Amino acid sequence: MERKNVEIPAQDLARQRDFEERIREMFSARQVHPVACVDTFGCQQNVADGERLMGMLEACGFTFTQEPGQADLVILNTCAVREHAEQRVFGNLGMLTHTKKDNPDQVIVLCGCMAQEPRVSQRVKESYRHVDLVFGPQALWRFPELLYRVYEQRRRVFSVEEEDGSIAEGIPVVRERGVKAWVSVMYGCNNFCSYCIVPYVRGRERSRRPEAVVAEVRELVASGYKDITLLGQNVNSYNGGDGYDFADLLAEIDQIPGDYRIRFMSSHPKDATHKLFDTMARCTHVAKQLHLPVQSGSDRVLREMNRRYTRAQYLELVNYARSVMPGLVITSDIIIGFPGETEEEAMETVSLVDEVGYDALFTFIYSPRPGTKAAQMPDPVSRAEKQKWFDKLLEVQNARSAALHAAYVGKTVRVLCDGESDDADYPIAARTDGNRLVRLKGDASLIGRFVDVRITKSNTWALYGEPV
Ligand code: 5AD
Ligand code: SF4
Repeated sequence: MERKNVEIPAQDLARQRDFEERIREMFSARQVHPVACVDTFGCQQNVADGERLMGMLEACGFTFTQEPGQADLVILNTCAVREHAEQRVFGNLGMLTHTKKDNPDQVIVLCGCMAQEPRVSQRVKESYRHVDLVFGPQALWRFPELLYRVYEQRRRVFSVEEEDGSIAEGIPVVRERGVKAWVSVMYGCNNFCSYCIVPYVRGRERSRRPEAVVAEVRELVASGYKDITLLGQNVNSYNGGDGYDFADLLAEIDQIPGDYRIRFMSSHPKDATHKLFDTMARCTHVAKQLHLPVQSGSDRVLREMNRRYTRAQYLELVNYARSVMPGLVITSDIIIGFPGETEEEAMETVSLVDEVGYDALFTFIYSPRPGTKAAQMPDPVSRAEKQKWFDKLLEVQNARSAALHAAYVGKTVRVLCDGESDDADYPIAARTDGNRLVRLKGDASLIGRFVDVRITKSNTWALYGEPV
């Protein structure tokens, strides 16, 4: 399939760099050293967007704080996937009326997936009048221009029109210091799973050029990042053009010399191929870890969710992946209580989870998202009933995680030390190839290094050990 070229032309990007310069000059004329607080909610894709927001702000002359009360500019970079996340954002927006009362020049920005929902932007327009700038994920690359308009014209700016979305290369970025880095390789989603708001707020699927992705990873490896995650809403539907697919991208990245790991997320089972698993197996830098969200173990519910695979097809994929990568770490996302789901169907999910034997799960109770197909389906089961099914799922998974972890005790594994842990006896946090958390004895000199560790104890959530 051909790759659609939706890249923003270089001169349009250069204009944004001009706006950054103008904002910087404006502050310097006022002799102000502006400070920003960027608060990011939700998935890794959003974290990666947050790093670009910070990059553009830094180019505008900002430094950063975690304290909204001390900031000249506050950004809430939001998530719309579940209702709970939205409620938190509205709570935070409410609190910002106070910081703005103390500092009337404070600029308040709402962006990310929630901002793209017409229901949300309308509510902010009418009832949250202290919010100065609202824009959705597709407008991220125009942030300097939008911000300039806020400062220049001293009026509220809303940029939330529906857009299919584009690709902007070369936006400045402030990365988290340390060993982990995120690289978006594709944006948007075309799948329209019936419960999910993402395709409505992040636009259509589009992929970056392979050369651009490979160059970015090469640069990250050269500057010392060791755990690099390739991101996409549906990363394995990556389309580099002329038949170049996600497996080809992994294989090309794997050629970059150095001591580092590559991971990727999230994958959709309908786009997971044997070729992908064969490539993972062969590539020495690719972590033998797979996040393959199944959502449900009931064929009827999977159909209603518009997932486009069956339980049997999913199990075949997992079996194949394990046959070429013994010891593969597999994780998944699960939704319990989809509209019309029966107890029997929820227990089919529990039995699938038991059958696969996941290393870990991300579990959710269904949350209706206005505008999606599922939000219009009858949903007669009470929250309390769904909670019972959910608890059963957790019970099965927790027992599994504890048993898998216990099997590590006495073994030696290679880990990457990536920071400090909150446990005084095991002060260093590290990750195995499979992204399993290990707490280590040792000191901060280990951080950033791959070390061999003997596992001495375990629980449901973590392994504990000492370097050998
Ligand atoms: N309700 C509950 N969980 C959801 N997810 C996506 N939309 C919803 C929803 N409406 C979950 C899915 C997805 C993960 C990122 O969030 O499991 O894989
Ligand atoms: Fe949502 Fe499905 Fe797209 Fe994932 S693949 S973002 S669950 S619509």
